[in-house]
Amino acid sequence: MRAIVTGGAGFLGSHLCEALLLDFNEICVIDDMFRGKQKNLENCKASAAEMGIPFHIVMKDASNPESYEIALRRLGGSVDVVYHLAAINGTRWFHERPDLVVRINHNTLDAALNFATSQGARFIFTSSPEAWGEQTTMPLDENTSSIFSPPQLHQRHSYGASKYIGELLVHHAIRTHSIDARIVRPFNSYGPRLPGDSHGQVVSMLLEKCLVNEPMEIHGNGQQTRCFTWVEDVVNGIKLAGELDIGLDGSNLCGRAFNLGSTIETSILELSDMCIQTSGTTIQPVITTAHPGDAIRRIPDISESQQALGWDAEVSLEEGIERTWVWMKNRNH
Ligand SMILES: NC(=O)c1ccc[n+]([C@@H]2O[C@H](COP(=O)([O-])OP(=O)(O)OC[C@H]3O[C@@H](n4cnc5c(N)ncnc54)[C@H](O)[C@@H]3O)[C@@H](O)[C@H]2O)c1
Repeated sequence: MRAIVTGGAGFLGSHLCEALLLDFNEICVIDDMFRGKQKNLENCKASAAEMGIPFHIVMKDASNPESYEIALRRLGGSVDVVYHLAAINGTRWFHERPDLVVRINHNTLDAALNFATSQGARFIFTSSPEAWGEQTTMPLDENTSSIFSPPQLHQRHSYGASKYIGELLVHHAIRTHSIDARIVRPFNSYGPRLPGDSHGQVVSMLLEKCLVNEPMEIHGNGQQTRCFTWVEDVVNGIKLAGELDIGLDGSNLCGRAFNLGSTIETSILELSDMCIQTSGTTIQPVITTAHPGDAIRRIPDISESQQALGWDAEVSLEEGIERTWVWMKNRNH
């Protein structure tokens, strides 16, 4: 199979490339390195070289149609599947640069979707549970409506709304161009390479504080819960959504949206305790201002993913935190 992975030098994208390579797929990454890193792709380059498979990187903007033409040439003129992961992710960006979040998330999706349509390639859109906004009815499933608070209050939903509109455009392409497109929604994925800087995501941010022995900031009261999901579990689901012609239950996968998340709720305070236990540090969490628009809970209904993809979250949070901590301690900066 020949695949394009937009955002392939990022957290999920680089793990996805590693998983795709294991099946001898030829891959071309498109990433402008906004948050991606060349070093995230070191394993890919090494294993591709060992296996004798070409591995291509186009270091350009995935909003630009030309980037896809270059990628297509690198792949010898044909592509079977486009995994679209390029986006601006990281909560602080949603508040600080909503203009960038909306523009990049929309324009990259538009360019990737048009390209896949023109090539007759399968399309996988990485949406997000943030597309449901501040919905409080759980679990989140196909019939759940999105709830966004008024935009004059805060800009948090620049991201969630961009993913909602992305899903809408995917459905439009299916209806008007008969493209075979599927949607996946990862739930708080974590693991090696998840950014833990000030614009990063919570598991890595907490573990980074343990590493340098500095206080952990908890936004809000820490009682908000998430369903943290080990990166390889999430990537396995994204890969399956792109590989399977039909569901394992015989169902049509086109136009379906698959939640990829653990169903175990963990509060942010519980998470910080687990990070403290794993790292053996004595630092304590510090309660600070809430992120406006932060959902209180986010629990996936994964029955569709279980039945059609044969997917489930396998790795416990305890095990995943331990693995992430070991990686963090041993990484080369
Ligand atoms: N990590 C999660 O838990 C999670 C949850 C839900 C959805 N998602 C979605 O999954 C995808 C991957 O997320 P991630 O956590 O790996 O984030 P990430 O920031 O690590 O990866 C996104 C990649 O897109 C690249 N990118 C940004 N703008 C680009 C542009 N204009 N052209 C080319 N590349 C560009 C970045 O450089 C980065 O490498 C995103 O679409 C994100 O919204 C992630």
